[in-house]
Formats: sequence, structure tokens, C-alpha cells
Amino acid sequence: MCGIVGYLGSRNSTDVILEGLTRLEYRGYDSAGVSLIENDELEIYKKEGKLNNLKSLLKKKKIQSHRGIGHTRWATHGEVNDFNAHPHATSDYSIVHNGIIENSQELKEFLMKEKHTFNYQSETDSEVFLALLDYYFKKNNNFLHAIGEAFESVRGNSAFVLMNTKENAIYCVKKSAPIVCGLSENITEGFISSDPYALVGFADRIYFPEDNVITKIELSSGETSINFYELHGQESPRYRLQESSKNLEVSKKGQFEHYMLKEVFEQPILIRKLTDFYLNDEIGIEILKKVTKTRPKMIHIMACGTAYYAGLVIKGFLEDINRIPTNVYLASEFRYQNPILNSGDLTIFISQSGETADTLASLELCKVNGVKTLSILNVEGSTLYREVDNNLLIKAGPEIGVASTKAFTQMCLMGFLFSAKLENFSDEQILSETHVLVERIDHILQSTDIIQNVASSIYRHQGFLFTGRGNHFPIALEGALKLKEIAYVHAEGYASGELKHGPIALIDDTMVNVAFCPPNLIDKTISNVQEIKARQGFIVTIGDKSNSELERISDEFIRLDFSNLEFLTGVYSNVISQLLSYYIAKLKGTDIDKPRNLAKSVTVE
Ligand code: M6R
Repeated sequence: MCGIVGYLGSRNSTDVILEGLTRLEYRGYDSAGVSLIENDELEIYKKEGKLNNLKSLLKKKKIQSHRGIGHTRWATHGEVNDFNAHPHATSDYSIVHNGIIENSQELKEFLMKEKHTFNYQSETDSEVFLALLDYYFKKNNNFLHAIGEAFESVRGNSAFVLMNTKENAIYCVKKSAPIVCGLSENITEGFISSDPYALVGFADRIYFPEDNVITKIELSSGETSINFYELHGQESPRYRLQESSKNLEVSKKGQFEHYMLKEVFEQPILIRKLTDFYLNDEIGIEILKKVTKTRPKMIHIMACGTAYYAGLVIKGFLEDINRIPTNVYLASEFRYQNPILNSGDLTIFISQSGETADTLASLELCKVNGVKTLSILNVEGSTLYREVDNNLLIKAGPEIGVASTKAFTQMCLMGFLFSAKLENFSDEQILSETHVLVERIDHILQSTDIIQNVASSIYRHQGFLFTGRGNHFPIALEGALKLKEIAYVHAEGYASGELKHGPIALIDDTMVNVAFCPPNLIDKTISNVQEIKARQGFIVTIGDKSNSELERISDEFIRLDFSNLEFLTGVYSNVISQLLSYYIAKLKGTDIDKPRNLAKSVTVE
């Protein structure tokens, strides 16, 4: 949450910072701001709303600056306005912050008791850190020490990027929040960001400082140097160097109107790519072999949001195919459930970003308990990637749409490959399933007009119940999440058989039932649909084209072909919900790639 970019070098820092923030805007878009050093003076420009507002403001100025820090905000403390936008600054130093200072009130009181006067300009917790920095700097006149002392006082997960007017340098420090630093190939430029994605094409050496390490990038006589320090000021060896960011790519929308649509359309290629990597590429084969060598007694899956629903799909594989008891936990709840973890168990953490605070917190607890850890993950090099014993990368490429689509498909597929290999399925068996999946998804993508038509007949309805049974139940949950997050309509996911235990009271002619109809549980599912139809609900079914009963009872019947698909029918059906939500949101005119109140990577607990 919150995108951060810092720059130091010969280019105009506004250009580099705005380019980086543009790439990171999907991480938060309530407001944006930059602080720039111009003629040795610190200037701040910030604007409520999307980054374009700030861009328009900066366009009017003729700024020449070679050092600066910028931020896109996802509000935690303090409403969305210009004052609460970052950076926060005194006349001598400025900061941007990603995270939450849990003891900000306590710290404010401490500063008051110490009689430290500070002219607060915002309601944010972040500005308390600035006040603290000011307090320690005035005490010891050493910026590095002031950062260390201030950072030691704050509780919670945070990353700060900072600079002052006196030194030609930018600094950062972090705890359980992502930070990456970089130098250009000819070491004339330095960068800091909350995401390596902002540094693609700029930085060639990428550094990942560990928690509670202060990084200082300095420019002197045209050359940058990077140094790492412990909070008390001594040099620190605690960072990791990655030689190049060249394997990263910057995602462009191309011919598509939205990233979300582009990402839905990428799925067939990505399914092929993932299967090919783990079945045909030596490195992929080795990785999968290693993680399937021992059979866990029990599996615990931790994840949030869409990744949690992928976890439920994967539980289905692990219990059906492998007969391994599997628990799936919402990562935010896991630590409060007093979980029972035994040696011989395997814990799996599913995440697109690898930076989700709750998922990382659940990982910490598992590590303390000494159980084996494995990720199913998109972003290589992320915190999750670095912290688990083994990684299964889902190779979805950058996912920019805030609503997760292709990552869900790849997570489920990865879970299927893991489960199938654990059970010694032959490659032919696996490929026969994945080839059919690709072919069927391709078919959906060639006839999106069908889904657009369904979207037009239901987008004015007031509420949506997504229902499913068996391996289609998680698909119903995911479908409802997708619709509410991008179309801002009330939608709930339910197990088909559960409606009559309460939610059926909601049904009238303002409600739509989007019913996923798994081929193996079709009769009972049809009965449940009938119950809703009898109460005037509008029926959209997603089921096998050969089923004439579905044809008869539905207001809209989206025909799929489930033949020759045994395990991945849910993953296939889910592409329909992705598109249905997309077209409903489009008809409603919402901001599909950056839905209100959301951010791509949720780095606060
Ligand atoms: O990066 P992660 O996969 O760990 O993120 C988890 C959730 O925040 C994420 O899936 C969220 O629910 C998406 N907005 C869903 O579209």
C-alpha cells in the first residue's frame, strides 16, 4: 500500500519520480506528492486524488531538481486531502511513509512532555515520525542517528524514505514493509522504492535491505555510493544484492482498455507457460521435485482475499487427489486462532504480491513453530519469497489491475501441479487437463459478446448472490468479491445448499443469482436454483452446454464445455465471473483498474 519513489542523480528528478509513481499508482491512489530539492531549498507539491492531479500541478512549474522523494497514498490515518498527502516536511527535511505507526498518539504525548514544539500540518501518524526525527536531530545534529532513534521508537510495520537539504543523499529504513534500493549501471544515479517494479529500466543493481537497517545513497563527484547501517549507526552487512532487474518487465495496456481485461486475456498463454516451466524446464522440474519429495501429514494454507479463495480451490485438490487433510486460514485470523501446528506439517502461503502484511505475519508465527514453509507466489524477490523455505512461482508477470484475475488462475494451477506431482500423476495426465483448460478459456475469450449481453441484462439489479457447490463454491466466493470490488454492488458468495438457511429471505425480483453449476453435482444445484427462481430472482447459470434443464430454468444460461476436464472446471468457470464483473463495472462506469478505497498490495495488518 502506498507507492514510494526516491531519486538522486543527473536527470530531472520530477520525471523519474513521476514515472516510478505512475507504475506504482495501483498501490494507492488517494493522493500523491513529491518533495524536491530545488536550489538547495526543499519544495513540496501534493494533491488529493489520482496522480494525474499532481502531474497537472507540476506541469505548470519549471522545476529543475536532481534529488527528490515521491509518494502515492492509501489513507490509513486522516482523511483524503492535500494536507494529509505525503511528503511531510520541515524546512530542512522531508519524509514519505508506507505503513502504520501504532503508537503515534503515545509518541506525540512523549514529545509534548519533552516540551518539543512541532507545528503539525496533518492528521497523519506519519507526521509524528517527522516530529520525532526533528526532536532527535535537534538533540544530536546527526541525521543518521536521528533516523535510528526515531525508528526505534515506533511500533508497527513501516517503511520511510527521507532526505534533508544539507546532504546530497536519500535515506530509507523499514520494518516488515517492502523497500528496494538501486544504482544505475554507471553508478551515477540512485533510487529507492517500495517496489522493484518502479526501478525497471532505471537501476541495474538492486539492493534489499533487511528490517531495521538504514540505507543511505549518496552522490559525490558524480558517483553514487550506497551504505547500510544498523539503527545505532554502525555499518551493517544485512542486505541482499541482486545484480540486475532485467528479468522484470513493465506492463503496458496495449490494445486493451483496461489492465484487468488485458490480464484476463493473458491467461491461456500464462497457463501454458507455467505448465511448461514445471514439466519441461530443468529448473522448474527440479523445484517441483524438491517440494514434492516428502508427503506432509497435514497442510495449512494462509492467504487473504482472492489468494485465500485460491487456497480453498487448492484444498480441494489436496484432499481429493492426495487425501491430505488441509486447513485454509484467512491470514488475518490465523494467529488469533491458536493454530495447532505439528512437525511433519507443511504450511503454504499464497500471495500475488508477496508483501501482504497479514500473510507475512502468519508466516512469522509458523516459522517460530518450526514448521516447513512453502509459497505459491507471483513476485520473485518479494518479502515472502525471501522468507519461506521454498517457493513455487506462478509466473503471471506483473498484475496491475487491482482486482486480481490471472494471479488467481495461476495460483490454482500451481496448486494443481503440486498436488498432481505429489501423487505421481504422469505428465500426460497433467497436460491433458491443462491443454483442455487453455482451449476452453480461449473459446470464452473469443466470444465475450455473450458475457457482455448478460452483463447488460443484469447490471441494474440491486444485489447478487453467487452460488456454487463443491469445487465451484470457492469460485462463487471469488466471483462475488470481484463484482463488489470493481462494480461497487452488493454481492455475496454462498454454498448453493446454504441459501435456504437464511439468505433466501433476500430474494425478490431485484436480486440476481449467478449460479455455478459443477457437472458432478448438477442435480442438487439445479434444485437450489429452482428455489430462487420460485421467488422471482433473476437466474444466470454457468454450466455445461449439454444440460437442457439449465437451459429451461435460466433467464441467462452461459454455456461451457466441461467435457474432458476433471479437476479444473472451477478455474475455467471463474473466467466467466472475471468477464461478467468487468462488463458490469464498465456499464456502471467505475474505475476498473483502480477501484475506490482499494490498493493492490495490502501492507498494513
Ligand atoms: O498480494 P496478495 O495476493 O497477497 O493479496 C491478497 C489480497 O489483498 C488480494 O487478493 C485482494 O483481495 C484483491 N484485491 C482481490 O482482487
